[in-house]
Amino acid sequence: MNSLKDVFIQNLHTINLENKKCIVRVDFNVPLSDQNKILDDTRIKAVKKTIDFLISKKAIVILISHMGRPKGKTDQNLSLGKIKNSIELILKYKILLIDVKENDETIHNSISDIKSNQLIMFENIRFNPEEETYSDKFSKYLSSFGDMYINDAFAVSHRNHSSIIGIPKFIPSFMGFMMYKEYTSISKHSSQLSNNSICIFGGAKISDKIQILNNFIGKVKYIAIGGGMIKEFANYLNSKKIRDKNNIIHNILNNKKTKILIPQDVLIKNGNLKPEYIVKNLDEILIEDNIVDIGPKTINLYSNSIQISTYILWNGPMGIFENPNSNKGTSAIAKAIARNNKAYSVAGGGSTVQAINQFITPKNLSHVSTGGGAFMEYIENGTLPGINAIIQNKNLYE
Ligand code: 3PG
Repeated sequence: MNSLKDVFIQNLHTINLENKKCIVRVDFNVPLSDQNKILDDTRIKAVKKTIDFLISKKAIVILISHMGRPKGKTDQNLSLGKIKNSIELILKYKILLIDVKENDETIHNSISDIKSNQLIMFENIRFNPEEETYSDKFSKYLSSFGDMYINDAFAVSHRNHSSIIGIPKFIPSFMGFMMYKEYTSISKHSSQLSNNSICIFGGAKISDKIQILNNFIGKVKYIAIGGGMIKEFANYLNSKKIRDKNNIIHNILNNKKTKILIPQDVLIKNGNLKPEYIVKNLDEILIEDNIVDIGPKTINLYSNSIQISTYILWNGPMGIFENPNSNKGTSAIAKAIARNNKAYSVAGGGSTVQAINQFITPKNLSHVSTGGGAFMEYIENGTLPGINAIIQNKNLYE
């Protein structure tokens, strides 16, 4: 296997990028408010270095990103047009948004007409079903718009999607600055994952998370559960039915290798217009209860375990921290991690980064990753499909 240094775009001093069409895969899947305001712009800022580098070399930049999960259909609510102006302000370039569903002549013409301080951005790539199902034909079609491909989308490089693993089959491919930084920062410390480690899992992508969590059993001392998964564990524990021994939650809770910390108490929100917040013990939770945070006893339990750990991994907030009535759990976990300055601490995920920026600062942690699921999979496996695709591409083009 080649060294990743060899596929890092900055090391390509010998390549002339002038007028080269560079397809740059970025991840602009950023958290948005109801008014489409970007709540955390870390992922956009993180790719500026790669774009500035390419523009300084007089390359033509074509951005590809996804946003949300439109399931292969055009959905104006998930159009990148909604955040185009904000991206322009952050990156400081004008952007021309084009849908890859346009005819290819129109797309080629727009690319040829682009001005030196402008970028092309393709509309949400997940509006095309072939992105997620993967298709060689679609990947080849996308690659036809570029002379080379640069992956600077660490956060989605765990997906076997056309714009991640497909394009590198057809044109020379490299890693961008942010991708390379994530690789060097995280891989240096992965070997420290051990008996003294804690993983804190929260957030909303429940089925993805339960699977990843399951894979960490045996590799860490503690796993602490927060966010949307609390309900799954509570429902399982409080179920009067005979518990299914093949259930993944049953297997997680009954494992003998890693101690699973589940909330002792949680915060419940009742009503919407004039909501009322009450703390309940886990065994009092009803199926219909709306859990919005962990409770005070749980905050203590999790904070104490964080203090005695030497390696801390955090992915996913504890509850609806965007609402000040239910942000105590996430805020307390962030602060507990920041206090333990002897541990190697790494956190990732769109909302986790947003919470870090809100309650502490990224400097309080050893590394803050732009990835969520990708970052957990990278720690677990030491590589990602998107990274492998770039390495295999090097073999193709040598
Ligand atoms: C993320 O937010 O974790 C990435 O953008 C990947 O999104 P996905 O989980 O919808 O593939």
